[in-house]
Amino acid sequence: MIVDERIVTFINSLDTKNSEILETVEREALATSVPIIRREMQSFLKTLLLIKKPMRILEVGTAVGFSALLMSEYAPEGCRITTIENYEKRIPIARENFRRAGKEEQIALIEGDAAEVMKQLEGPFDFIFMDAAKGQYIHYLPEALRLLPEGGVLVSDNVMQDGEVIESRFAVERRNRTIHARMREYLYELKHNDALVTSIIPLGDGVAVSVKQVPEAGRGARQSKRSEPAECGAAAEKRKGQEAENGKTS
Ligand SMILES: C[S@@+](CC[C@H](N)C(=O)[O-])C[C@H]1O[C@@H](n2cnc3c(N)ncnc32)[C@H](O)[C@@H]1O
Repeated sequence: MIVDERIVTFINSLDTKNSEILETVEREALATSVPIIRREMQSFLKTLLLIKKPMRILEVGTAVGFSALLMSEYAPEGCRITTIENYEKRIPIARENFRRAGKEEQIALIEGDAAEVMKQLEGPFDFIFMDAAKGQYIHYLPEALRLLPEGGVLVSDNVMQDGEVIESRFAVERRNRTIHARMREYLYELKHNDALVTSIIPLGDGVAVSVKQVPEAGRGARQSKRSEPAECGAAAEKRKGQEAENGKTS
């Protein structure tokens, strides 16, 4: 857990209930150890959807359909959701959940590997929710960028890998080093790609919210790409001292 457990418990204690079908699907998913979005992420998604009001949503990683159903309740009327899943055991359960909720018309489940499926999709999708294999996000990104229109929103869940992403690669178990390196690369790309403006938020297991922009639109065209890391502490003090001596203070 990357956020103090008591804070999360307190925030979640303020939550109101979801619809009956969401409560049921969530209960069933948790009882069968299917990973679904956490309570605090649920609230965040609802809020983002009510702000953005997307008419076409793409979800990467359906599991048993919980988050797709949640999004269908908070997106505007007429919004279509496409969701991708490749684990054959979960696909019939997700379909059944969409049927139980009466959402078969609104939610289209595509079976297959997201990397392949995304290449076949035609955009635009004005909201993309990335919630599949964390080590693959970096590979999905070019397609996500192709599918998003200007102003489109990309939400990537679980980007902190239970906090492991901040560790040096040597502190990470050897078998987790590839996924660790790929997630770092993904986060770097989200923050440095001129087509995106991204905020990484320590919510749940870490969520990145990115908005696609047209690079020429400016906003500094990402000076950070070339700039030195921010100076702090002793180094900054030393530099200021030297500048003062040279009469260069501003
Ligand atoms: C965390 S779960 C999704 C949870 C779901 N979004 C929810 O909150 O209700 C991630 C899902 O992504 C699926 N997945 C992983 N890699 C995938 C891939 N390459 N293509 C399609 N689905 C994939 C997994 O099988 C798993 O069911």
